[in-house]
Amino acid sequence: MNIILLGSPGAGKGTQATELEAATGMKHIASGDMFRAAVREGTPLGKLAQSYLDKGELVPDDVVIGMVLERVRQPDCENGVIFDGFPRTPQQAEALQAALAEHNDAINAVLLLHVDKDVLIQRVIGRWTCRKCQAVYNTYFRAPKVEGVCDLCEGDLYQRSDDNLETINHRLDVYEAQTSPLIAHYRTQGILHEINGLGDIDDITARMVQAIESAKPC
Ligand code: AP5
Ligand code: MG
Repeated sequence: MNIILLGSPGAGKGTQATELEAATGMKHIASGDMFRAAVREGTPLGKLAQSYLDKGELVPDDVVIGMVLERVRQPDCENGVIFDGFPRTPQQAEALQAALAEHNDAINAVLLLHVDKDVLIQRVIGRWTCRKCQAVYNTYFRAPKVEGVCDLCEGDLYQRSDDNLETINHRLDVYEAQTSPLIAHYRTQGILHEINGLGDIDDITARMVQAIESAKPC
C-alpha cells in the first residue's frame, strides 16, 4: 500500500507517520526532513532549499518531484510508502500518480488530519527537534524529561528556522492556497479519509490505522 498524510503545518503528519511506520512496516518518506538533512549536510540541494524553508515558501515543483521520486525507487520502499509533506501541489500529485502507475502501483488512501488553527500554532511554536536523531518534542504537549535534551539519544534539541509565529502564519496561507486543492482532488478519486487530529497521539494513530485497514485492497 501507499498512503499520503495531508494536513496543515503542525497537524501531526511527522508524529503520526513515525507511529504508522512502526505499526505497518511501510516506509516513512518526508520531503521536509529530506530538505533539512540536505541543509545540514550543506549539499547543493540544501543550499537551494534553505531560503524557501526559512521563508515558509514551497521549494519549486521540479526540485521536489525529482528528489522524492528518486527516493521512492530505493529498495526500502518496496513494502509501500507513507508520504508526509508530499505531494503539496496538483503538479506534484500528478507526477506521483504517473510515476506509481509506471509500476502498476497507486495511492490507496489519503489521510487528512484536521486540527484547529490555534492548536496548530501552539504545536509549531512549542516544537523542539533532536539535532542527532531528529526525534520531535513539544514544550506544551510532549516535553522531554530534561529540558533541551533528547530522551532517546541525549542529543541537543533545537527549534526549526520556520517554527516562529510570522513564518507559521505564512505557511498556513501557503497551505490554503497551494496544497488544500488536493483535498477535493483526492475526494473525487474516492480515497480521502478525514481524521480528527486533536487529542491523544495514540488515539489519533488508532483512527488512522482503522482508515488504512478499510482502504486495503481485497
Ligand atoms: P515540512 O517539514 O513538511 O513541514 P510542514 O508541512 O509545515 O509540517 P510540519 O512538519 O511543521 O508539521 P507536522 O504535521 O509534521 O507536525 P508534527 O508531527 O511535527 O515542510 C517544511 C518546508 O519544506 C516547507 O515549508 C517547504 O519550504 C519545504 N517543503 C517540504 N515539502 C515540500 C513539498 N512537497 N513541496 C515544496 N516544498 C516542500 O507535530 C508538530 C508538533 O506538535 C510537534 O512538537 C509534536 O510533538 C506535536 N504534536 C503532534 N501531534 C500532537 C498531538 N496529538 N497532541 C499534542 N501535540 C502533538
Ligand atoms: Mg513534519
